Amino acid sequence: MDPCHARWAAFLQELCGSDAAGVRSVLDVCCGTGLMAAELVALGYRVSGVDASAQMLARARRRLGPDVPLVHEALPHLTLTGPFDAAVSTLDGLNHLTPAELGPAFAAIAGRLRPGGWLVADLHTDAMMEFARANAIVEGQSGGHRFTITSTVDVAGRTCDARIALRDGDGRGGFDEVHRQHFFRDGDVRAALAGAGFGAVAVTDEYTWEPVGDATLRATWIARRAED
Ligand SMILES: C[S@@+](CC[C@H](N)C(=O)[O-])C[C@H]1O[C@@H](n2cnc3c(N)ncnc32)[C@H](O)[C@@H]1O
Repeated sequence: MDPCHARWAAFLQELCGSDAAGVRSVLDVCCGTGLMAAELVALGYRVSGVDASAQMLARARRRLGPDVPLVHEALPHLTLTGPFDAAVSTLDGLNHLTPAELGPAFAAIAGRLRPGGWLVADLHTDAMMEFARANAIVEGQSGGHRFTITSTVDVAGRTCDARIALRDGDGRGGFDEVHRQHFFRDGDVRAALAGAGFGAVAVTDEYTWEPVGDATLRATWIARRAED
């Protein structure tokens, strides 16, 4: 299992543990290869996943087995009905949306949550935009894969075109992917959340209780669907 996702799932469990209504079902938005879903299943949550990539979902299926519902579709389109107690989106999934898609995506997620349901999602900060600009090539390991990310940042346009080469541990399998990420302004995220019916927004440093600081690369947005 991946140490980041284990820590992030533990944060969600601690956060939602305060909810007297109980949190049992979780929608993993932009679930990718299922790293977060696997951690949440291990913690006892009933998880469903949605992702725009068939390749990612095939890997998620292998990781999660046959019992976790996985749907192949692209936000803001969302056909899973729920209602879910919580939705998560980890490792920059929502940064793949365009600014025009963010509000409709939040609305689609809110529509699948019960009143008072949670949204816990991370988004890149401006510090991440600067990090990507200054570190055009990043190599590392995650979930048993080796990856190389090559980034081209447009600071004025607030975008990053990333080329990702993912290789399996044995170096044989894997795939290459090119995508554009968007760096959202905090005010735009708050407006999109409010417009989608979310309230009580908090923003913390990468799945901790620490406030966002100048060094925060990944901000965790915590919001709850307003009660009816
Ligand atoms: C960096 S990966 C994160 C995967 C996963 N959340 C994790 O923590 O490992 C981003 C994922 O977002 C998915 N994605 C991008 N745009 C999407 C969209 N519009 N709707 C659904 N999934 C999308 C990609 O296919 C990819 O699997």
